[in-house]
Amino acid sequence: MSKPTYYITTPIYYPSNKLHIGHSYTTVAADAMARYKRLRGYDVMFLTGTDEHGQKIERRAQEEGITPQVFVDNIVDWIKDLWKTMDITYDKFIRTTDAEHKQAVQKIFKTLYDQGDIYKSEYEGKYCTPCETFYTEHQLIDGKCPDCGRPVESVKEESYFFKLSAYQDKLIKHIEDNPAFIQPQTRQNEMINNFLKPGLEDLCVSRTSFKWGVPVEFDPGHVVYVWIDALSNYISALGYLSEDDEAFKKYWPADVHLVGKEIVRFHTIIWPALLMALDLPLPEQVFGHGWLVIDGGKMSKSVGNVVDPSILVERYSSDAIRYFLLREIAFGQDGNFTNEALITRINSDLANDLGNLTSRTVAMIEKYFEGGTLPEMQQENEFDTDIKALVKNQIQKAEENIEKLFFNNALEDIWVIIRRLNKYIDETMPWVLAKDEANKPKLAGVLYTLSEGLRVVSVMIEPFMPRTPEKIWGQIGLQRGELTSWDSIYTWGTLPKTTTAKKGENMFPRIDKEKELAALELANSPVDTNQKEIKSETKPEAQVKVQEKSAQKTEEVKQLEYITIDDFAKVELKIGEVIVCERVPKSDKLLVSQIKIGEEVRQIVSGIATYYTPEEFVGKKVVVVTNLKPVKLRGILSEGMVLCAVDETGKLVAVGPLGDIVSGSEVR
Ligand code: ME8
Ligand code: MG
Repeated sequence: MSKPTYYITTPIYYPSNKLHIGHSYTTVAADAMARYKRLRGYDVMFLTGTDEHGQKIERRAQEEGITPQVFVDNIVDWIKDLWKTMDITYDKFIRTTDAEHKQAVQKIFKTLYDQGDIYKSEYEGKYCTPCETFYTEHQLIDGKCPDCGRPVESVKEESYFFKLSAYQDKLIKHIEDNPAFIQPQTRQNEMINNFLKPGLEDLCVSRTSFKWGVPVEFDPGHVVYVWIDALSNYISALGYLSEDDEAFKKYWPADVHLVGKEIVRFHTIIWPALLMALDLPLPEQVFGHGWLVIDGGKMSKSVGNVVDPSILVERYSSDAIRYFLLREIAFGQDGNFTNEALITRINSDLANDLGNLTSRTVAMIEKYFEGGTLPEMQQENEFDTDIKALVKNQIQKAEENIEKLFFNNALEDIWVIIRRLNKYIDETMPWVLAKDEANKPKLAGVLYTLSEGLRVVSVMIEPFMPRTPEKIWGQIGLQRGELTSWDSIYTWGTLPKTTTAKKGENMFPRIDKEKELAALELANSPVDTNQKEIKSETKPEAQVKVQEKSAQKTEEVKQLEYITIDDFAKVELKIGEVIVCERVPKSDKLLVSQIKIGEEVRQIVSGIATYYTPEEFVGKKVVVVTNLKPVKLRGILSEGMVLCAVDETGKLVAVGPLGDIVSGSEVR
């Protein structure tokens, strides 16, 4: 039986060597979906590429004294490198300068002309070169481009037109009959009410005032521009109207065109009208995602607030950046980008939740069981039923959300499992079980549940974070295979009982936020961005400058990592003796102690109840931070903090003096 097919596309990008983290968003989202569908057994076609024609490119190449082809070739290599850095697994990369594409465009143009859908006339209008768009007089805002606000040029020239107006009613009907066609829902109403109902005008589809486009074969001087050239990439890439149209027959219509919200109109009005004219089926869905914004404004090259994705990937790994993009931005809505939000996410979700779950689980197995191998004899506990039910439920929820392209919700669904497993550690207290040999089967059962939970989680995150799963598998004794397939997660208990754990690298080291923010500020300064310019633009002197500047930066960043003796002196540490200790009512974790520090007695609350009984703690000499601002914990005043060492499993041991010394002594 042949596999079902799944065809997903991103827009084709304008060639720019300043593609930023906002651009990466569309591609990362499409990649996550493509990977998911592959895991679910689909034969996937994931298309991306570049939109290389137009007056803007022609002018920029001219300014640099190179041909447009050389200009775009350089940049396309750079873009492909960027997608490699982000682990994008496209199946095909289309360039509108590909010979096959140009031929398809010419055939489409001729077909539409022959059947009367394209006719020749004269165009008089306002043209915005940066946006490559014509506007009618009444669309302008204060005489300027309604999209970018820049001045427009008056143009009058002979042009070919596509009879867009003829498709108005058919388009409205299609959109109304197919609620899934435009997503999210809100964009659907916008298209019908703002664009379709007021009426469509025919569309100018050729130009004569520049050369850098696909020539109209039967009318020299005319080049096909933007619409028919760019939009038809989705079918030319599959070999439409070529000798080999196998892929077209197999994959068309597309399951989803993923596009930014500003080009939803092109994709839900002009593109379907062209397809109707060609008598081809329409794509199942056009999904318009929101923008990544900075301080409320769209991240864009012209505003100069772009964030370079490769710098971020280098510092935090592509998995962390992919996770952030897909988690932080509610699909369909705009999302704000700040370095701070990025670091917070990495620390809380990746280092704390996922990283700790993995390292604690593995560390406990290695510590409590010979050779890190769990014994056959395992016993369940009262929390296991809840875990199994929750996992099952979350898998179903996540799948539903992924199908809808609601990746942020899907990731949240997965993190519910991760956080539940972390809580399970607190509930079952393996370190307490480990004290008694008789509890070994119970302890093994707990660690098995944690490992099996990790297995499920690692499989589920793979579409979003393709590198992390292998790192987890290596630590819980798995290799890629049947036990890591998507289908395997439906059966709880698939991980072999006697699995062997092995500690691996720290997948997501915790980031010191303040230091890192300062370092990022430096890393994203214009100097480093220059480094990413295409080669022809990087002059030797400039390179030397870049090196000097980065050496200086490394030094500055290092400086940030030290504290001075004065910084240290701010913390007042003293020896205290625990004279009274009891449990905090209704809390599993807290002990409240009366601690004698010289003449004074302080009350201090500590989260150590699962490691020390009050009886064990009384009489101990400990190190206390005495100038910490008092706080109330569970309504109980705490005037200081007892220092504890913490191991990888999260186990705490209070720190004390090695020799005999009176309470109240200073620690320094
Ligand atoms: O529009 N946040 O190309 P493009 C989120 N060539 N997405 C963003 C973004 C941001 N800050 N900035 C850009 C084109 N994008 C045409 C498409 S398709 C037949 C022709 C997204 O390079 C943008 O929304 O300007 C779009 O989906 C993609 O990057 C390419 O934009
Ligand atoms: Mg299909």
